Amino acid sequence: MQLPLPQVRVPFSPEQASSFAGEVDALYLYLVAITLFFSLTITTLIIFFAVRYRRRDPGELPRPRAGSLPLEVMWTVIPLMIAMTIFAWGASVYFRLYRAPQEAMEIYVVGKQWMWKFQHATGQREINELHVPLGARVKLTMTSEDVIHSLYVPAFRVKTDVLPGRYTQMWFEATKAGRYYLFCAEYCGTNHSGMGGYVEVMEPTDFQQWLAGGASESAAAQGGKVFQERGCASCHQEDRAGRGPVLKGIFGKPQELTNGQTVTVDEAYVRESILDPHAKLAAGFGPLMPIYRGQLSEEQVLQLIAYIRSLTDDAQPQRGGGAGTVTGGAPSESQRSNPLGPTSPPPPPPRQGAGGADTNTGAQGPGR
Ligand code: CUA
Repeated sequence: MQLPLPQVRVPFSPEQASSFAGEVDALYLYLVAITLFFSLTITTLIIFFAVRYRRRDPGELPRPRAGSLPLEVMWTVIPLMIAMTIFAWGASVYFRLYRAPQEAMEIYVVGKQWMWKFQHATGQREINELHVPLGARVKLTMTSEDVIHSLYVPAFRVKTDVLPGRYTQMWFEATKAGRYYLFCAEYCGTNHSGMGGYVEVMEPTDFQQWLAGGASESAAAQGGKVFQERGCASCHQEDRAGRGPVLKGIFGKPQELTNGQTVTVDEAYVRESILDPHAKLAAGFGPLMPIYRGQLSEEQVLQLIAYIRSLTDDAQPQRGGGAGTVTGGAPSESQRSNPLGPTSPPPPPPRQGAGGADTNTGAQGPGR
C-alpha cells in the first residue's frame, strides 16, 4: 500500500505482518484510550464527589437543582462527536479491509472439517499451509464443503467467515517475511481447535522458486480438463452458440437473463450456473443443462471458475487499467507490491505446454 501507515505497537498483540496491521492496531489503541479516559474520569469524579459532598449533618437537605441546558448540550454533543470519529475511522478501515483490489494474486480456499485446502492460480495445492510472496496483494476466494468455518490470520489482522454454498473473499498484503499462525475462528466440530496451520511469507524470488518447484498445471488448466471430462464443451462451444452460451469473454460482464434481469458474471453466478443452472438462465437459452449439484467437489467448481475466468482474461490482457502503463526503468510501487499481477512479467511457467491458461498473466493459452 502506498499510504503512510501508522506504526503503532499495541502491547499483548500479535506481530504486525500485513499492511493493515498497524492501522487496525491504531484504531484498537484509540478505542482503548477513549475507554480508559472515560473510565478513569468517571471513577475519579465519583470518588471526589462522594467525599466532597458527603452528608455532614443528619438533618441536612441538598439545595434543589433545576436542569442546565448548556450542560445537557455539552454531554450530548461531545460524546456524539467522539462516537462519530470511531465510526468514520472504523468504516474507512473496514472498507479497505473488505474490498479486495482488482489486481491481486488469486488463491482459492476450501475449508472442511478439519482442514484448510488452498489452491494457487498456478495450480499448486497446499493443506493447512499457505505460501505467499512478500509485498503482493493476495486475494482469497473461499468456500466450505460442510459447515461454517472462519479463516483467521492474527498477524495480518484479517478474519473472514467461510460458508458452505457461498463465496467469501478476503485480501491482505504481507509486509514481513516469516511464518505466521492461521486459525479456524468458528467452532466447527470436534477438531475445530486443530484446524489451523501457517502462512509462510516468502521473499518474491524465493516464492517464484517455490512456485516453479511445484510443477503442476494451473488451476485454469485443471478446470479446462474438468470442462472436457464432464462434456461441458459439447454444449458450450468456443466461438458459436451451441445449446449453451459461449463462455469466452463473459467473466466480469453483465449477462441478461430470460426473466429480463441482468446479473454480473462473477464467481457466485458461475457457481450457481453450474450447480443449479436453471435458477438464472441466460437470455435465449432453455433449461437444458443438467444440474451438477452434488456431482462436483468444491475444488472442481473453483477450477471451472478459474478456467471460465481465464477465457476472459486471455481476451483482455490489459484488465486492471491504469497500472498497465508502467514502462522501463525501476519497477514502480504498484509493480513491486504486486509481482504476480497482470501488469508484471509472468512467473516462470510450471511446465511448458501444460495447458498454459495461466489466469493472471494474460498469456495466450491454447484455444479450446
Ligand atoms: Cu473450522 Cu472451526
